[in-house]
Amino acid sequence: MGSLAGKRIVLGVTGGIAAYKAVEIASRLRKAGAEVHVIMTREATEFVTELTFREITGQPVSVDMWQKVANFNVEHIALANLADVVLIAPATANILAKISVGIADDMLTTTVLATKAPIIMAPAMNTNMYENPVTQKNIGELKARGVQIIEPAAGHLACGIEGKGRLPEPVEIVAAVTAFMTGKQLLSGKKIIVTAGGTIEPLDPVRYLGNRSTGKMGYAIAQEAARQGAEVLLVSGPSNLPNPVGVRMVRIQTALEMQAAVQAEYTEADAVIMSAAVADYRPKTVAREKIKKSDGKLVFELERNPDILYGLGQQKGQQLLVGFAAETCHLEEYARKKLVKKNLDFIVANDVSAKDAGFAVDNNRVQLFFRNGDSEKYPLMSKQELAKIILNKIAERMS
Ligand code: CTP
Repeated sequence: MGSLAGKRIVLGVTGGIAAYKAVEIASRLRKAGAEVHVIMTREATEFVTELTFREITGQPVSVDMWQKVANFNVEHIALANLADVVLIAPATANILAKISVGIADDMLTTTVLATKAPIIMAPAMNTNMYENPVTQKNIGELKARGVQIIEPAAGHLACGIEGKGRLPEPVEIVAAVTAFMTGKQLLSGKKIIVTAGGTIEPLDPVRYLGNRSTGKMGYAIAQEAARQGAEVLLVSGPSNLPNPVGVRMVRIQTALEMQAAVQAEYTEADAVIMSAAVADYRPKTVAREKIKKSDGKLVFELERNPDILYGLGQQKGQQLLVGFAAETCHLEEYARKKLVKKNLDFIVANDVSAKDAGFAVDNNRVQLFFRNGDSEKYPLMSKQELAKIILNKIAERMS
């Protein structure tokens, strides 16, 4: 039996010169046991014929949204539903841009928008197009949404120049897909609670005290933990991010609500990752009616919110506890103090004064401090990559 036996792969082929390599990708996926359904863009058909893919995969090939549906399996929603993974190789700059903003104007983009399956994209294009900031921004946005990007290789490109942009060899792409799909489920059977976003503390029916956290880090952790097989509860403050796939969500507003949601499931949890930016203070009284302006000062009295993580540290049993430390100075000193005081297994410290990392951006640059005194410093990386590192550290400590 092949390593991909029983897997259903939707292979999206877009119109770049590397489209011919997708034939070998389809062939290798099928040899590995997968059922391969090819969707081509209209442009891709200029490079390779539908017939080639039909012969290679033994399945109908879709291009047109409006073609007469011979088999219900090729209807876009059906393909979106049956896919265990959607692989787009090669992915042109155009498809990266379209998918990053959610355009759905053909069979492939419609399927991508409708699927809940993981998406893997292998960009291939001219180096200048690849390096163009707008393409990089689109790739960053896709990564932030959990799309796996197979980096293009460097080398001699069809357009005659040397540089990054070449589609990796089909054998490498199939290896990456296989690793993704058969990846060891590091956290299967584990229950993980993740908190994300900022809490908001009401002042009156229309106003609140809040902070700049968007939830990106916590959502990335929750998504990755689910992908690694964990049962995940995500307790989230207000956030515009989509619900991570396969994750149970509890939406809260205040620190007290977040504490109650975490406490309710703490006993059975194997790990708690507190990435939320919890408000340390709340208005002592919440006005029942909208506060009207008047001459002179308006003074609010604030009272302390509980330190949720400290409370969890006090009751710690089998649970692994991971905290975050958002600092603007004396990073190591403050982070180590929090690690000890809150009884954590490790703490993820970041300098939130850096413009390119931390709050409300896709990247983070952190240092981890462990209970035994060790520390590890990481370069700037996407929040997805950081989520993987954090979960690997947790998995190591659970085994
Ligand atoms: N945290 C918490 N409850 C709070 C405040 C923070 O559980 N009321 C958690 C955060 O989710 C984070 C860690 O504690 O994992 C550290 O948060 P941070 O804001 O950096 O530190 P504080 O403990 O609030 O300390 P300070 O604001 O004085 O730096």
